[in-house]
This record gives sequence, C-alpha cells and structure tokens, in this order.
Amino acid sequence: MEIIIQANPEAASGIAARFVARLLRAKPDAVLGLATGSTPLRLYRKLVQEKLDWSRVTTFNLDEYVGLEPGRPQSYHSFMWGNFLHHINIAKKNVHIPDGQVQDIPDFCRRYEEQIRAAGGIDLQVLGIGTDGHIGFNEPASSLASRTRIKPLTNRTRRDNALFFENESQVPHHVITMGIGTIMEAREILLLAFGKNKSGAVARTVEGPITAMNPASVLQMHPAAKMVLDKAAAAKLKKTAYYRWVYENKPDWQKV
Ligand code: F6R
Repeated sequence: MEIIIQANPEAASGIAARFVARLLRAKPDAVLGLATGSTPLRLYRKLVQEKLDWSRVTTFNLDEYVGLEPGRPQSYHSFMWGNFLHHINIAKKNVHIPDGQVQDIPDFCRRYEEQIRAAGGIDLQVLGIGTDGHIGFNEPASSLASRTRIKPLTNRTRRDNALFFENESQVPHHVITMGIGTIMEAREILLLAFGKNKSGAVARTVEGPITAMNPASVLQMHPAAKMVLDKAAAAKLKKTAYYRWVYENKPDWQKV
C-alpha cells in the first residue's frame, strides 16, 4: 500500500484530484467507483473546478440506503447529484448508483455486478473508511470475498452517519453495498481518510493484520492501493517517517 500523508484534508484532496484527473486525461472513457460521505466532498469540489471532460466516463457508486426515496436529501442519489454529478458533463446513462427501493434486491445486486463487468471493470475506486474499518458498507465480519448485496449497518456506523439525518433513529438499518470482492477487483484504489477519529482504523488497516474484523485491512492484498491521509488520520501510524520519505523521494516518472 502506498501511504501519502498531507498537512490537511485540503492538500490531501488536491493530490487525490490529481490522480483522478491524470486517469481521465489518459483514459477519457475511464470507469470510476465513487464514494459518498464527508470525506470525498473536497475531492469532488476540486474535480468540478478542474473542468475535465466527463462525457465518456462511467461511474458506479459503492452504496445506497435501503428504503430511502432517491429524492430524499440523505439518499446517496441526492448526495452524488447535488455535490458532484450535476456540476460535470457526465451522461446520465453512465451513472450507476444502487437503487435502495428495488423490490428484488438480490436480482438488482446481480445486475449491478454484471453492469460493472460489462463496463470493463472499475479503473479507479475512490473509498472512504468507517471508524470501524468498513469500506463501502462492508461492516466488520463481512466476507472478504463478498459481492454487491444488502448489508445491515452496525450501531456505530448508524451513529456516525446520524449527522446527515435529524436523529439517529432515522438512519436506515440496511444498505446495498458493493462487496469487498467487488472493490478488490478495481484496478486501482484511492482511499481517503481525514481527522483523528479515523486514526485507529487507518493504523489497523495499514499496520495491523488482515482480518474481516477490520475490512479495510484486505487492501494490503491489493496490488495498487493508495491511502491519502491528513496528519490527524495518520497520527497512530508507526512508520510515518518512512512513508513520508518514500513519497518525497519518488522518481519523477512516478509523481503526479
Ligand atoms: C460511503 C461509504 C462509506 C464511507 C465511510 C466514511 O459511500 O462507502 O464507507 O466512506 O463511512 O464516511 P465519512 O466520509 O462520512 O466519514
């Protein structure tokens, strides 16, 4: 895993935006996996400012709450269109966000996987991380080989996500989420984590054992995973001096 530590979320998001921009310039019909939540907001703002051409890009979002109408402000449909997709020239038909209102969830999840395959697979998957180490909404004890499916949220995640709702009791119990196996098939992974409340999950993910109890730790097995952190999220890592040295001494051809 490549660990990139920046002074603050603004600088870290700038680097993440450069990775995405570089991919889109090299591959105008790239397939991106996208995340919601507080963490990628600055990245999306920066990508809007970059004025890239999104007309041939395809996107797949990681997850959506089950039972929330897409028009509700807390739905990930609203989040994605409001914070990002309405501000770029992406074709609506190329945007895929799980439908939390479908009747036949297993059938929908199978088709979501097929759509990802038919698009040629995900080139770059953007991830956040939960305080309990979840990626997508693959909570602790999720199968490390899981595919897109319905998943119950832990109380901790419902508490963390309550800030987007009036109160915790309104946070749905279930989501549709890409599986860990689905995420691991992305050709590149870009995980962002900011703030000291993520520092425990980040340290366990980078320097702890691979375990389903900390789902993000599976990224140690990914051949091209980058974690872009602010100082606070990196605070519990032991080898920060080494990670910083590696990043600062990259050969020119590896720099973004
Ligand atoms: C969101 C997602 C989640 C979030 C994670 C962190 O689509 O898949 O894994 O990335 O819960 O959320 P924030 O960024 O709000 O701290």
